[in-house]
Amino acid sequence: MTDVRIAMTGFGNVGQGVAELLRDYGEEYRRRYGVRLLLTGVADRGGAAIDSTGLDPQSLLSAKRHGTVAEAPVGERDLRGDAFLERARAQVLVEAASTNFQDAEPGWGYIQGAMHRNMDLVIASKGALVLHWSDLMASARQAGLRVYFSGTVGSPLPTLELADRVLLGTRIDRIEGIVNGTANEVLAAMAEGASYEEGVQRAQESGMAETDPTLDVDGWDAAAKAVIIGNALLGGNLTLSDVRREGIRGVTVQQMLEARSRGQAIKLIATIEREKSTVTARVAPESRPLADPLGSLRGSEMGVVIHAHPLGVMTASARGGERAIPTSLTVLRDVFNLCRDRGWSS
Ligand SMILES: NC(=O)c1ccc[n+]([C@@H]2O[C@H](COP(=O)([O-])OP(=O)(O)OC[C@H]3O[C@@H](n4cnc5c(N)ncnc54)[C@H](OP(=O)(O)O)[C@@H]3O)[C@@H](O)[C@H]2O)c1
Repeated sequence: MTDVRIAMTGFGNVGQGVAELLRDYGEEYRRRYGVRLLLTGVADRGGAAIDSTGLDPQSLLSAKRHGTVAEAPVGERDLRGDAFLERARAQVLVEAASTNFQDAEPGWGYIQGAMHRNMDLVIASKGALVLHWSDLMASARQAGLRVYFSGTVGSPLPTLELADRVLLGTRIDRIEGIVNGTANEVLAAMAEGASYEEGVQRAQESGMAETDPTLDVDGWDAAAKAVIIGNALLGGNLTLSDVRREGIRGVTVQQMLEARSRGQAIKLIATIEREKSTVTARVAPESRPLADPLGSLRGSEMGVVIHAHPLGVMTASARGGERAIPTSLTVLRDVFNLCRDRGWSS
């Protein structure tokens, strides 16, 4: 049995989901994969909890009910940044803090600090991957570190693994996807006759949409995912401003009903393609036949269609689970793949 020491930054929906999974399935994971995943440090905005022998996931969750993991018996207020990484003494950073597309902090700082300490990376936040792709990958390569980020591109869709592992030996020229569940839920409501505003309200009531849904409905989130997919799988060097982006605010109920009468649905589609050595990406509302793998996706479902030569087409779709659990599971999937790739697990 190998111990794998993990530091986790961010203890919101995703981080707490990881703790719940380790609490409920930790024993089974040990049996099945031969690794004991130890959270040796967890940080949020209020501070951190540190225990080199492994934090108890339930005591972190209980402490968080009082606002911060620093309330745990082994918690320390205001412990964060480099001091946190130093004290956590971990082999792996799970980066699950809030992010943005202006400076990618706090994730980028934590990622750099972790690489400096020779830690492998499992990243759930998109900011650093979107703004600092080349730097991040070059530094990791130079230091011999591994980087996993399946949770950033529409989890639990296996887009990266399909391309990276299943479709080895093929040439991928084009990837299309519905990679934002919130936009799909709004459009699905509109397809049933709801106005755009009612669609957004329903998505907010179901817990999918944020109070400010801008990142989802204006296509920023899908564009960020397109950047990551294009760079990771098609060898691009895209940034957010390279993506031609149109959101769903301009889609009318009239257009939705007309599309439906033609046996089609309007969906927010991300398309990433390579022509010769140029990789391009766009996000825009498009009509798709209702029988199409993407046109048929309902509610908050997401899906991806990978065009792989000479195989043809491979598709995957997923319906989200409760809260952020699909993302937390995807984070753990990355951790298990890291353990396998490093030869730590049986
Ligand atoms: N939710 C999903 O299903 C999903 C899917 C894919 C990707 N993601 C990405 O994963 C990340 C986490 O998502 P989430 O839903 O868990 O977000 P969230 O619920 O808003 O949680 C964000 C966490 O980051 C912490 N944080 C903020 N600044 C910090 C700092 N300087 N140092 C340490 N921690 C800090 C927050 O601390 P406090 O708790 O003290 O506020 C909070 O615990 C985000 O970047 C998100 O975009 C989420």
